[in-house]
Formats: sequence, C-alpha cells, structure tokens
Amino acid sequence: MLELRNITKIYNPGTITEMCLFDSFDLVVGDGEFLSIVGSNGSGKTSLLNIICGSIPIEQGEVLIGGDNIAKMQDYKRYNKIGRVYQNPAMGTCPHLTILENMSLADNKGKTFGLTSGINKSRRKFYQEQLAILGLGLENKLDIKVGLLSGGQRQALALIMSTLTPIEFLILDEHTAALDPNTAEIIMQLTDKVVKEKKLTAMMVTHNLRYAAEYGNRLIMMNSGEIVLDRAGQDKLETSIDELLQLFNKISIECGN
Ligand SMILES: Nc1ncnc2c1ncn2[C@@H]1O[C@H](COP(=O)(O)OP(=O)(O)OP(=O)(O)O)[C@@H](O)[C@H]1O
Ligand SMILES: [Mg+2]
Repeated sequence: MLELRNITKIYNPGTITEMCLFDSFDLVVGDGEFLSIVGSNGSGKTSLLNIICGSIPIEQGEVLIGGDNIAKMQDYKRYNKIGRVYQNPAMGTCPHLTILENMSLADNKGKTFGLTSGINKSRRKFYQEQLAILGLGLENKLDIKVGLLSGGQRQALALIMSTLTPIEFLILDEHTAALDPNTAEIIMQLTDKVVKEKKLTAMMVTHNLRYAAEYGNRLIMMNSGEIVLDRAGQDKLETSIDELLQLFNKISIECGN
C-alpha cells in the first residue's frame, strides 16, 4: 500500500514566486490498484508523482510504501520498488545502445557490478520472452540500436524495461502523449496487460479522458493540488467520459482557464 500523509509542498519557499501546491494532502493507493490521474495543466499531477518517487523535497508529511517512510529509505531500495515511464519516449532508453544492452541495463537496476561482462548472454532468451509480450517483433531486433526505433517502439521498450525487475509500483506520466492515436492505443493496451500480468500497482497521469475512464480501477481528478473527484470500483465503471468532460470544463471555467 502507498500512503501520502499530510503532504505540504511549497515551490520556491521564501521567495516572491513562492507557491504552495499541496497543503495537507492525503492519498492512499491500495495494492493492485490501477489509478488514473487527470487534471488541467499545472494542477499538480507530475509534482504528485515526483513526491511519490521521492525525487522532489516536501515541506511536511510523509510518503509510506508498505508502511516504510521513503525519506528514510536508501535510494536504490526505493528505485527497486518503483518503475517509471515518461512522456518523452527518449527518456527511458539509451539511443546509442542496442535493445539487448538497454534490457541488460534495466535488468541490472539496483544490483552491484563486479568485474564480469556487462551483458549476461544467458538472459537473452528471457529478454526475448519479455519483448514478445509487446507483439511488435522487437524480440527479433535485439542487436539493433534503440535510436533507430520509432517513438512508439521506444515507449513500448521503455515500458518493458521499467517492469523488467520485480517492481511494485509503475508510475506513468502522460506516457502516450507523444504517440500517434493508433500507437498510443497499442501502448495503452500493453500497459494494461503488463499491469495485470505483473500484478502491479499503477499510477497513470493522462490528459486522455477516455483512457482514464476505460482503463484502471480508480480515477482521480486534480485541481490546484487538490483531489476534486475520486471514483473507484463500480463507481469508476459507471463514470462516463461525458461526465468527466463536464466536470473538467466546470472546474476550468471556475478557475478562469
Ligand atoms: N520546479 C518547479 N519550480 C517551481 N514551480 C514548479 C516546479 N514544478 C512545478 N511547478 C509548479 O507547480 C504547479 C504544478 O505543476 P505540475 O508540473 O505538477 O503540474 P501538472 O499537473 O503535471 O501539469 P501538466 O498537465 O502541464 O503536466 C504548476 O503551477 C507549476 O508551475
Ligand atoms: Mg505534468
């Protein structure tokens, strides 16, 4: 279980541009939940993910993973629990390395390195099996440089790489935003498949209200650092895209966006 307790986040404290984004913010995400997060630009979605990953400081509160405070956890232990896919397909992979080398790097996340070869050839078959999940034929291109792949192929690879080691949480920040509609749909379906097959707890930020409505088992809408809608289970299933859009527009008008 992931718990955010009483979080306060202030950007640029003590300066003229000081901005309190989260003020006593709470959120509990249960094991196995697939949470979609929607909200207007600047509502705090990426900041929330950064706080969960421990990558930005907070003024007050605690983030607990399985009851353990991440602030007191060594970085590598935290990283071992969390996989992250970014909006930019270039962020999660190294273009000058081959698919095999990229997979090997991801495979060695959190491990110490000895004076052995960087690439464990015996893992080749395992990587091929993992890539085959994607159904994009990448398992037959292990020795191709990743920079030669399309954005969609790279994002699919990034997704598999981030879930290669036994993580608990998958963090997705607009990971389909840079892709064409068809590729975005494929990556979304793959995401759903990977989350289910690997029994992950997932948090996905998206501006696509249809994805938020169709995928996952919980949905929150954020505005100005607050949760303004939280639907789970049957309530989430009964939430239509139209209802989401209406609420989104109502909030935007109220906020003058
Ligand atoms: N490093 C930073 N320094 C100062 N202010 C920041 C910083 N990062 C974010 N902010 C501010 O915090 C607010 C929330 O930003 P955040 O990036 O979390 O929003 P978001 O919901 O992810 O938006 P988007 O949909 O555009 O990605 C914004 O007002 C933004 O200007
Ligand atoms: Mg963002």
